[in-house]
Order: sequence, then structure tokens, then C-alpha cells
Amino acid sequence: MDTPNPQVAAVIEAISKKAKYRAILPDLIASLAAEELSKGRKFKDAIKEVSSRLHQVGAAYFTAMADYAAWHTELANLPTDMHSPQVKAFCLKHMQTHSSIQERLPFIEEFFHTTLASIAPVESVLDLACGLNPLALPWMPLAGNVQYYGCDIFSDMTSFLNSFTGYLGVTGNFSTCDLTRLQFPRCTQIAYLLKTLPCLEQLEKGISERLLDTVPADYLLISYPIRSLGGRSKGMGKTYENQFEKLMEGRNWQVMRFEFKTELAFLVKK
Ligand SMILES: C[S@@+](CC[C@H](N)C(=O)[O-])C[C@H]1O[C@@H](n2cnc3c(N)ncnc32)[C@H](O)[C@@H]1O
Repeated sequence: MDTPNPQVAAVIEAISKKAKYRAILPDLIASLAAEELSKGRKFKDAIKEVSSRLHQVGAAYFTAMADYAAWHTELANLPTDMHSPQVKAFCLKHMQTHSSIQERLPFIEEFFHTTLASIAPVESVLDLACGLNPLALPWMPLAGNVQYYGCDIFSDMTSFLNSFTGYLGVTGNFSTCDLTRLQFPRCTQIAYLLKTLPCLEQLEKGISERLLDTVPADYLLISYPIRSLGGRSKGMGKTYENQFEKLMEGRNWQVMRFEFKTELAFLVKK
């Protein structure tokens, strides 16, 4: 991170004192702070606005504070076969901590096996804004030597995911990133953008188009929530489907559509 100006640095310091924002990438806090201060907001108001935006795009999804130290201890006592009942029980338990992932649990196996059937076994994945989705690895139709990469804004989460995949012997890496600024280092068979585009649009309007064009993957698995975090549907499915169709306009890409109880998904061949 470049050295921020003193006002931005003070906002980062104040926000990083709050436990739920402590592990968020400082670069993201800095860019939001600079944006809010440039609107002429006072210091306290800037802190309030930045906190609220960080809550909306990331912290709101945690149903409880994730105790990664305890998760590490549990992990160390598990078998290393990801399909063992103990590992699957561990994954299911901890995926409950992230509401976006929790919503998918009732149909997790169907979700990945249906959407990825035409390209399975999948050889490499880039899971963008992954949340705790990599804990769903045992339910994905992956090749034995799959390479699995991912990123999100929480450093404690990406660090845990590195330990998790390392423990299971899966080749891959998770980094702490801000997708509004990320340069993509590698090419994968598929990139997941699961329930992520609406979230990123809150940070930068129009980012979806740029991401779709620049993500270096042959296929994209894009999904949208059909219900809000509070459980109301409010025509979300139709709204997001219209947004997706607009994104596809003028792009000669092949699309397969899948609808699940709480999620609408599209497999796109670029
Ligand atoms: C709705 S959740 C989706 C989680 C996951 N992809 C899934 O399968 O449900 C949105 C995720 O985006 C992450 N996120 C928000 N802003 C981001 C950014 N600028 N760069 C990377 N990740 C971001 C959040 O931390 C959160 O995990």
C-alpha cells in the first residue's frame, strides 16, 4: 500500500480498531476513505460511511465471528481425505458462519454438479470474492490434481483457506485482494463469481463488465441471490437476470442457465 495521506491513515486506523473490520485489506479501506473524504465529509462521518460500506460488502455476511485459531486446531485433528465424513462435517459446520454460503448448503452438491456437469472434472478454479466457498470443495466435481485459487478482502479468512487446502493436499493459493483493483496473475479453466457482482457494483459502478472481459478463464460461473440477506425476494431474480442479460449483450458467449431455490446461476463459455 502507498503511504496514505494523514486523514486517510487516521480513518484506516480508527476502522481497523473494530474487530469485524480488523482483517480487511487496508488498501480497500484506504480507497473508500479517500473517496468519502473527497466528498467533503468530516472525519467522523467518513468513518461512519466507510464502516457502513465495509459492512454491506463483507462483514454483514458473517453470522458469527469466525474463530480461525479454533478451526486450525480442529483441522489438525482431521483426516487429510477431503471426502472423509469428518472433513465434510467440519466444512458443513463452518460454512454456516458465512450467510451467503449457508444459503447454498441445502442444495450444495446439486449446485456444483449441475452447473459444472458439462466441463467436469474441473481442472482449475479461480474463486473470486470466495468467502468460505472453498470449504465446499468436497461437493465440487473436481479433477484429482485440481488447482484451486481464490481471493477475498479478509486476510484471516484467506490465511485459513491456505491452511485448509494445504492440509488436504490441494494445489492452490488464496490471496487478500480488492477485486476492483486486481490484476489477474494466471489463467484457469473456470472463474467463479458467485453472488459477487451485485456486491462489487456497490463499490464501483460498472465493474461487472470490466471483470467479465478481463478475468482470464475459459468459463465463468456467475450467480445471483434470489433473496435478500433478510430472506425477502422482492423480484430480485428478475432484476438480476435482466442485469445479466445486459452484460451478455454484444458478447458472443455461450450461456447455460440454472435456477435453484435461493440462487440463479449461469455457466458462461467465453
Ligand atoms: C455475497 S458474498 C459471496 C461469497 C461467495 N462468493 C459465495 O459463494 O457465496 C460476497 C463476498 O465478496 C467479498 N468482497 C466484497 N468486496 C470485495 C472486493 N472488493 N474484492 C474481493 N472480495 C470482495 C466479501 O468479503 C464476500 O465474501
